[in-house]
Amino acid sequence: MENKLITEIQQLKKEKNAIILAHYYVNDELQALADYVGDSFYLAKVAKETDADVVVFCGVSFMGESAKLLNPEKTVLMPDASADCPMAHMAQVAKIKEYREKYEDLAVVCYINSTAELKSCSDVCVTSSNAVTIVKKLPNKNIFFIPDGNLGRFVAAQVPEKNVILNDGYCPIHKNITAEGVRAQKEKHPEALVLAHPECEESVLALADYIGSTAGMIAYAKKSDCREFIICTEEGVSYRLREDSPEKRFYFGGEYCCHDMKLNTLEKVLHVLKTGENEVKLPANICEKAVAPLDKMLAMAK
Ligand code: 13P
Ligand code: SF4
Repeated sequence: MENKLITEIQQLKKEKNAIILAHYYVNDELQALADYVGDSFYLAKVAKETDADVVVFCGVSFMGESAKLLNPEKTVLMPDASADCPMAHMAQVAKIKEYREKYEDLAVVCYINSTAELKSCSDVCVTSSNAVTIVKKLPNKNIFFIPDGNLGRFVAAQVPEKNVILNDGYCPIHKNITAEGVRAQKEKHPEALVLAHPECEESVLALADYIGSTAGMIAYAKKSDCREFIICTEEGVSYRLREDSPEKRFYFGGEYCCHDMKLNTLEKVLHVLKTGENEVKLPANICEKAVAPLDKMLAMAK
């Protein structure tokens, strides 16, 4: 059944000049199928540079929106239109306006995990793989970092020369990863290195041997001489970790599952390729303003 679906998808991809992008958190079979698999930054770059006519984005809505903003001529299809990142909504336009009035020299730095509306009110976007580099390069002293408070705190610690104002958004999945859970894993596997995503709470990051984006964690585990790792992020990364290093062991302290990411399935990929349903469409007035911080990110991350 799975093979039949894959054959049909491959045929339709050719017919429609389509590519499939997938984030490391989606189901294994989609990562195996996709033309490009990566972290948010890599996928945004691929979306910007592709000459395919159709992009099927196996991820959540902010990823599809970013692809559309960066390459508006393309048709971007989401396998499941309801796959969304709750954190993307955890900041308020009114707060941004308030801080713009309060601080003369303010840059609003927006994690790519955000709605197009929030991006449209921001100065620059970042991902977990480039946030520190970009904030360091900004000329502004005051930085309002939205929506993720944990990534904001992590960046603030790396860039002490800036006044980073934190927002209280968070990822519900990474919030479930606790320092006690990591310590319990460490007791069972004392040789293991702890790799953590910066969306984790401060107490978890304090226990980490490496902190980075999903792609950063995967690359670190592959290169490392160590054979055991405690992984502090969503469990979907285990597919690539095991593909890259079958001889190594990866431990997760619990079921850290992003249900929105898991809404993507082979059946739904086939369906949108067939029907063109779930096309990403954004209001023109938002597009104009929301693309600038994304373009600025791509330029500044170089
Ligand atoms: P990455 O950019 O590290 O892939 O993270 C995306 C994300 O949603 C993390 O929760
Ligand atoms: Fe959003 Fe968290 Fe899911 Fe990433 S893992 S898409 S931040 S809810």
